[in-house]
Amino acid sequence: MIRIVEPIFSEEEKKAVIEIIESHRITRGEWTKTFEEEFARFIGVERAFTVCSGTVALFIALKAVGVDKGDRVVVPAMSFMATIDAVYLACGEPVVVDVDEFFTMDVDQLETAVKKYRPKAVIPVHLYGNMADMESIMYLSEKYDFYVVEDAAQAHGAHLKGKKAGAWGHIGAFSFYASKNVPMGEGGALTANDPEMVKNIRKWIDFGDHPAFNVRITEFQAAIGTLQLRKLTERNEKRRQIARIYSENFSDLFGIPKERPQSYHVYHLYTLTHPKRDRIVQGLKERGIDARVYYSYLLHELRNAPHLPTPRAEAFRREVFSIPVHPYLKEEEVSYIVDSLLSCVESPTSKGS
Ligand SMILES: Cc1ncc(COP(=O)(O)O)c(C=O)c1O
Repeated sequence: MIRIVEPIFSEEEKKAVIEIIESHRITRGEWTKTFEEEFARFIGVERAFTVCSGTVALFIALKAVGVDKGDRVVVPAMSFMATIDAVYLACGEPVVVDVDEFFTMDVDQLETAVKKYRPKAVIPVHLYGNMADMESIMYLSEKYDFYVVEDAAQAHGAHLKGKKAGAWGHIGAFSFYASKNVPMGEGGALTANDPEMVKNIRKWIDFGDHPAFNVRITEFQAAIGTLQLRKLTERNEKRRQIARIYSENFSDLFGIPKERPQSYHVYHLYTLTHPKRDRIVQGLKERGIDARVYYSYLLHELRNAPHLPTPRAEAFRREVFSIPVHPYLKEEEVSYIVDSLLSCVESPTSKGS
């Protein structure tokens, strides 16, 4: 089976893990500090804080911008469920809007939702590694006075007009779950520039005069994350090269991912659309390719949340599927995936039809 994701570690990571064991300093030590410094520098922000997951990063970000009982938070219809669940956990009330042709928050609908619901915060998601329209969203944030928490869980290193995901909003939230472009196993981070935001984030991280969870990561995670981060730029480039081959081959028969102008898509997932999606996914699986659907649900349906009309997301959820695009794919595997997908449309499997 060609797996949908494949985290790869080398001797460096093994050596670092053994050194940590031998040092007896297994939590909040030099590696964690190093990771936070290097991650902040990489994203281009003043501060980065590690936490135990992307979900926790989103929750703390919402609390840090002041979301509390009944505050409205706008989220897009397409994302992993943690995007909306974090709103409920922070005691907020989500409002769901449609996506645009890039699978990211539709800004016209955002403005309609903002006028109607006056949200405290908005969570654009850089879905699949593609940047949301951050320039327009930040403009609306100034105009209507709401906070922006970027869900950059799938977008390590993505950028728009030279500014990285996680550096546009008031706070950025990242995940380092095993499948992500920077994998730690489990883990997350918050990024911020504003001293007020940094202070508010700290309240949820440092034990002190404010009740808080323990959200720390271990030195093992920080070491693996640091070493993986140092390879990210090269690996994102490789993902983009594979994506280019896919798009050249698939553009006549499938809806291919669109890159927002002046942006750098990091292809956490390479996601296509086709009306016969289910048959094609089944056909790929039979050919040993781990194609998957991200996501077959819409966030407002999943959690029964208020929403604006979401025609685009409804069409996408029936048609999207993702194929392996990880940077360790061999040339012959990429060719095999191309040939297999083309043959699935020509003669899709009889099963599942
Ligand atoms: C878009 C998005 N948001 C949030 C999360 C939550 O991250 P975690 O699984 O680390 O809690 C994930 C990934 O899992 C994600 O893909």
